[in-house]
Amino acid sequence: MRDAPDAPRLPSSPGFWRSPLRGPWFTSVLGIVLLAGITVLFVTGLVSYAAYNPDLAPVNDKTPDKGILGFYLFAWPTDPHWLYRLNQGVHVTLGITLIPVLLAKLWSVVPRLFALPPARSLAHALERISLLLLVGGALFEFVTGVLNIQLDYVFPGSFYALHFYGAWVFFAAFVAHALLKLPTALRNLRHLREPVEEKSDLVSPRPAEPTVSRRGALWFVGGGSLLLFATTAGQNFDGPLRRTALLAPHGGGDPGSGPNGFQINKTAAYAGIDAARTVEDTWRLVVTGRTGTVRLSRARLAELPLHSAALPIACVEGWSTSDQWWRGVRLRDLAALVGYGDDPPDVFVESLQQRGAFRQAALRANQVADPRSLLALHVNGEPLSPDHGYPARIIVPAAPGVLNTKWVARLTFGDL
Ligand code: HEM
Repeated sequence: MRDAPDAPRLPSSPGFWRSPLRGPWFTSVLGIVLLAGITVLFVTGLVSYAAYNPDLAPVNDKTPDKGILGFYLFAWPTDPHWLYRLNQGVHVTLGITLIPVLLAKLWSVVPRLFALPPARSLAHALERISLLLLVGGALFEFVTGVLNIQLDYVFPGSFYALHFYGAWVFFAAFVAHALLKLPTALRNLRHLREPVEEKSDLVSPRPAEPTVSRRGALWFVGGGSLLLFATTAGQNFDGPLRRTALLAPHGGGDPGSGPNGFQINKTAAYAGIDAARTVEDTWRLVVTGRTGTVRLSRARLAELPLHSAALPIACVEGWSTSDQWWRGVRLRDLAALVGYGDDPPDVFVESLQQRGAFRQAALRANQVADPRSLLALHVNGEPLSPDHGYPARIIVPAAPGVLNTKWVARLTFGDL
């Protein structure tokens, strides 16, 4: 049906937006879903930052100017060993699953975004600014998160800093909005089965013919979320489930077969590893501590007491592996070699890596002391492959993937 010649032309004109779905009920249902989902996203995001132990050493901290925003940081534990895997799997999978809900919420309130005049009073101006931070913040957080996973750091700055500061701005606006709207949202939800419309300028004064019911539209949004969930969640598992993660760059593809056939993030070639420096004759692990420095060949390391631990690799990008069987020398035994008997300190780890943000990393004393924390030489019964960090790599329970440094060259024990 064609619009009448006098139909409103501007998005700010009453009657321009004609969908009969818009109204407080539809907006409220989506709002309540976002209230729960975004709160979980914010908490898991903050926890993920704490997992890097950013207050331990500058090399771990990609947001050094955070000031009081780091008030909540704590020493990251090593138990349960799947803690980071769960936290980051939830953060990334939930974030992707909420995209259709966010888009539907923005669609449901779009007439308000164009309302004129921009500000009727000082209070109204402040409200519009808070909405700008809310909508802008939401889009910024979702877009940066997805780009980071899909496109491998395409930002004109550090993803970590942008996403961290953006989260605080967005969440402050989110809390203010949620507090203001919660009474309306709850009132509408009392009529969950039978939407009863209140008076609202979200309801079009000249609604078009409905093509779908409100309930049908919610199913459509839920279906979109379910589809994203089903094509993303598999990246947290091995085997056939990983192949269902069609939308995830670290799912879908085949990580190879055999003991080393599990997911990696960066290959040895990508990290700029010079193969000549990793061969048995040339590679030496340099360990420094209270009593001086020792240099250990791989053969010498293999003569030290070797221990096993079943631990996953869990990446900040939201993919993880199931537990792998690692075998190597305990970090605390290496600390004992350089003068730290019963009470191992922090350690500063350096890699042969030429490229990548985490070629140096610090581990806290509690991580060094854990008997499952290893300098691994083998995985699943075979020597590490070049892409998994041959000749030796760190593996620590519950730590983010990048702190499990590959191609280790030097360990410096001491309080950081
Ligand atoms: C990503 C998070 C969110 C964004 C981007 C967002 C965006 C918006 C915008 C731009 C408006 C229109 C301006 C206004 O009426 O003040 C609005 C209205 C509203 N929002 Fe949200 N919102 C979000 C989360 C929430 C949450 C968590 C709730 C539930 C507590 C909620 C409930 C509502 C309600 C009830 C309205 C008013 C509907 C009406 O007046 O008819 N929103 N939202």
